[in-house]
Amino acid sequence: MSSIITTRFEERFGKSRELTARAQQRFPSGVTHDGRYLEPFPVFVDHAAGSTKISVEGHPIIDYWVGHGSLLLGHSHPAVVKAVQDQMTKGTHFSAGHELEIEWADRICQMVPSAERVRFTNSGTEATLMALRVARLVSGKRKVLKFIGHFHGWHDFLVPAAYAPYDPNDWSMPGVPSGALEDLVVIAPGNLDVVAEAIRVHQPACLIVEATGGHWGTVPMRREFMQGLRDLTKQHGVILIFDEVITGFRVHAGGAQAAYDVTPDMTTLAKILAGGLPGGALVGRADLMDAIAFNNQYGRKMRHPGTFNGNPLSAAAGCAALDLIANNQPCDAANRSAQELRLRLNTLFAEKHANWCAYGDFSMIHILTGFDGPRPDTDDFIPHGGDYTKLDAKGDPKFLYAFRAALLLGGVDWFAWGGMTSSAHTPQDIDTTVAAFDQAIDLLRGDDWI
Ligand SMILES: Cc1ncc(COP(=O)(O)O)c(C=O)c1O
Repeated sequence: MSSIITTRFEERFGKSRELTARAQQRFPSGVTHDGRYLEPFPVFVDHAAGSTKISVEGHPIIDYWVGHGSLLLGHSHPAVVKAVQDQMTKGTHFSAGHELEIEWADRICQMVPSAERVRFTNSGTEATLMALRVARLVSGKRKVLKFIGHFHGWHDFLVPAAYAPYDPNDWSMPGVPSGALEDLVVIAPGNLDVVAEAIRVHQPACLIVEATGGHWGTVPMRREFMQGLRDLTKQHGVILIFDEVITGFRVHAGGAQAAYDVTPDMTTLAKILAGGLPGGALVGRADLMDAIAFNNQYGRKMRHPGTFNGNPLSAAAGCAALDLIANNQPCDAANRSAQELRLRLNTLFAEKHANWCAYGDFSMIHILTGFDGPRPDTDDFIPHGGDYTKLDAKGDPKFLYAFRAALLLGGVDWFAWGGMTSSAHTPQDIDTTVAAFDQAIDLLRGDDWI
């Protein structure tokens, strides 16, 4: 990273620099999640409330990562904190069923249209892994259809084709055995004819899709496409899985499936599901979920242990969060803030003659640089006609680091080239964020990035 941004960043975040030096002695690259890596170093956080994190230096930072998407209600929502504190005194693991896990599942089934039965996991990655295994057991087929650029967690069967650059001739990934690729069929997003042909040729067990498009809508998919997937999969007996790990309880209290009125056969959930604590679930049609049951209709059971499945702390946080989300108001509030921010950013980019645009839908905002076309003034607009090779290309990581560091200098933390709002983001936060982008563009220009 070149000098102005780096110098100011090092001055402002001195303690984070020291902690990075310590972290590097313990963690590869000093981080515990790839996405948190930043140059010259990441900012360490001491505590957080509402929309704002406080860095170890005491600087407030408006947060658009919102717990990797898990904090629709913002940080440390009092109702969630109280529910967890109360449960903490009662016990954190009973090695037994408990009433709260049933209440948690009741809420999910009331809110998510496809949820007839629930199985809790510890993460979204575990939920998508389970979804494939259930689909294979039930259908007796092996192949799985996924879209280029759709992220479903980091396990061997779905991580291929999740990250740009995309080479349709080679989906191998370091450390993933080639056997894991044998039953994976990867197709370009956005074209129902391509999907129909892949189903005809490969006769897959299932099709899995990020419900608003790859990388939470970086390459958007809209209602009509999802309805098309529903029609095609139903027609050909392919199990349709919506990965709603991010969109579930975010875009709408019932997830994208409720917003679109398109019901898949199974759904993977995590993040908001557990109110900001670890947790995930596979939910779906009772006959499919029967694959996990003892003495089931299939005569062979899918084994599923997992020490912390349905644990009382996550259940307490999840119930408290879902109770607040059920009336959809937090989703509406977050959606409104994001829409306002998209509009304001596009106005700013035009004023500053920056060839950037902000686009997206619901509470998700994506920034596209090097874009000279018309800027969207409605959420219907999809830049580059939705071409994934342009919307989800591998950019220069050093440019991304400079962008994020420049924004952090203005008190805003952005999730790579995207951001998500929570119901705790205020109009004042939006003002501060627009000012931070204004300053960041100047800083990036000063360092010759743009
Ligand atoms: C759409 C989607 N699916 C699955 C996952 C994996 O979830 P987890 O990080 O809980 O394993 C993620 C994580 O960001 C995701 O965005």
